[in-house]
Amino acid sequence: MKILLLTSCALLASCATDRGITTEESTATIKASFAERGIAKLDRLNQSDLQKTCSEYADRELPKTVAARLEKEALETVKYPANDQYLGDWKEGEKIAQNGRGLQFSDSATGPNGGNCYACHQIQKAEISYGTIGPSLYQYGKLRSGGAQQAPEAIVKYTWAKLWNSHAFAACTQMPRYGAAAILTEQQLKHVMALLLDPKSPVNTQ
Ligand code: HEC
Repeated sequence: MKILLLTSCALLASCATDRGITTEESTATIKASFAERGIAKLDRLNQSDLQKTCSEYADRELPKTVAARLEKEALETVKYPANDQYLGDWKEGEKIAQNGRGLQFSDSATGPNGGNCYACHQIQKAEISYGTIGPSLYQYGKLRSGGAQQAPEAIVKYTWAKLWNSHAFAACTQMPRYGAAAILTEQQLKHVMALLLDPKSPVNTQ
């Protein structure tokens, strides 16, 4: 990597000052600048193979074959509910979507985490404070059901898999892996599913 950078710098005057920092050097610098605090341990800085690959391609397009491999591996981690029940209570789902608690150094290791979905998505119309990193999920169930009363099984399963391991459909996504990284429990995921897909949820009625 270093040799490659130095060679290309010899040809391009514009990066004559580029010292060619290696991945090892930058990783060591990042590790040295963090301290363990509360439940936030330094092992969080160790990247998975997927994260390493996504970092490597951060400034250029991920080759299609690599993306397909990463997405396939992510899809294989998805665990579907044993009883085929996918929808819980949308009111609980709304609370989880609103809640950003969990996994921060100041949080205790016990107690349920939130999903913090509004940090990246519009969901209910009544909530006007939301981030826009992710697409709007307002009327998600209604729009994905093609006029049917209930969402088709394929959409239900896709939504579950997206929540369980978001990388299954977008290799280098910024969306958390709610099931695969044990951020939300299966029951919590069902509540969030209901928020998006229950025909009675305000996401679909308003
Ligand atoms: C850090 C930002 C972030 C957070 C937090 C987040 N998402 Fe996402 N989400 C995204 C992005 C970006 C996409 C677009 C596709 C991709 O890159 O994965 C997405 C896509 C989706 C999709 C697929 C949409 C479609 O039209 O197919 C669903 C469903 C979804 N998110 C639900 C949720 C739910 C529910 C939560 C909370 C439990 C959540 N997201 C939290 C960033 C986020």
